[in-house]
Amino acid sequence: MENQSETKTTITLTFPDSFYWGTSTSAHQVEGNNTNNDWWRAEQAGKVQHKSGLACDSYNRYEEDFDLAKSMHNNAHRFSIEWSRIEPREGEFNEKEIEHYRNVINALRERGMEPFVTLHHFTEPVWFTDMGGWLNKKSQKYFARYAEYVIKELGDKVRFWITINEPLILSFDGYYRAKYPPFKTGLNNRRRASYNLLMAHIRAYRKIKRANPNLQVGITKNNTYFEPYKSNIPSKIFTFFIDRNWNLLFLNRIKEHQDFVGIDYYYHNTIRVKFSKPQTWFNNNENKEVSDIGWEIYPEGIYKVVKQVARYKKPIFIFENGVADAKDVKRSRFITDHLRWLHLAIGEGADVRGYFYWSLLDNFEWTEGFTQRFGLVEVDFNTQKRALRESGKLYAQICKDNELKI
Ligand code: NOJ
Repeated sequence: MENQSETKTTITLTFPDSFYWGTSTSAHQVEGNNTNNDWWRAEQAGKVQHKSGLACDSYNRYEEDFDLAKSMHNNAHRFSIEWSRIEPREGEFNEKEIEHYRNVINALRERGMEPFVTLHHFTEPVWFTDMGGWLNKKSQKYFARYAEYVIKELGDKVRFWITINEPLILSFDGYYRAKYPPFKTGLNNRRRASYNLLMAHIRAYRKIKRANPNLQVGITKNNTYFEPYKSNIPSKIFTFFIDRNWNLLFLNRIKEHQDFVGIDYYYHNTIRVKFSKPQTWFNNNENKEVSDIGWEIYPEGIYKVVKQVARYKKPIFIFENGVADAKDVKRSRFITDHLRWLHLAIGEGADVRGYFYWSLLDNFEWTEGFTQRFGLVEVDFNTQKRALRESGKLYAQICKDNELKI
């Protein structure tokens, strides 16, 4: 056979100046021993299958973790403050724990990383759950008071604040399909929890901005790219409603009360309305490629969700995007493919200011426990040893250059 010489051209995609490159984590998933929150209690009672235990022990090992993030040339990092540590009993605030988080923030700053801090990432103090959690109207007031306290203590050190992580996932999984604590069901519970989460954000936003108008405040919203199955008309109509309901309703309601739009992108969902059995209206994806957790890998979706929220004309951050891939055979391509699509959206005018890969470390993946590995850094949970994966090295190069070479 004739030898054909292949000419390979490299395309370089440059990201905007001062783009934030980082990773995300959350307190309960990495810190370990969060013994005073609703998840820990559910884990001990066997209401969820796995126990978080020591997790990644990041409560003690955060400096080592941040060294790894720094070695990837990250200039930003997103983590969360554990409410149950700060306010272990209603109205009692723990200054020692504030001091801990002050040290965490300083450790980031010393390494040249901008902190992005989440105030509520799925977990809450047991006293809060026991008074009805997000079904109780008082939840709004309690959350805003906690936010105000944290801002008073740490507001001079952190510019970017995320009040609530994925509020609609919380109300769906915790109040509609009983997957997460407090394991409630029913449409009314879901609606009520969503409403209180919404108002809690608005109240916290007002308090934070009153304390310091320069602080940048928003939420992070799990948005999905919904697509109708072929050009089937009922599917198109249903997709339109699902899309508005899931992706836009919450963001519309807080549009006067957020300084940026925070997006977590993981899912593409093909909707097929079908009246014959089996009536599987959701997730009719082709699933050409899936992750360890079974989620379809669909890079184009990040472009779609970003283009959709560009309508708010606010800075956009991708606060989560990642893949469960224990063998690290898909992650590098996952990252480059998603960044390619993200870059296209930016090129078309979307004001994206940062990308945070989920996650820095393998960690406690809620109902899946430690079985699902999302980390750029592999963690051996017996020894707590960390090791940068090959995909971590690739990410490091992208962050260093502020560009993607394909
Ligand atoms: C979104 C959640 O915020 C995070 O806690 C979770 O680990 C990732 N999705 C992956 O499922």
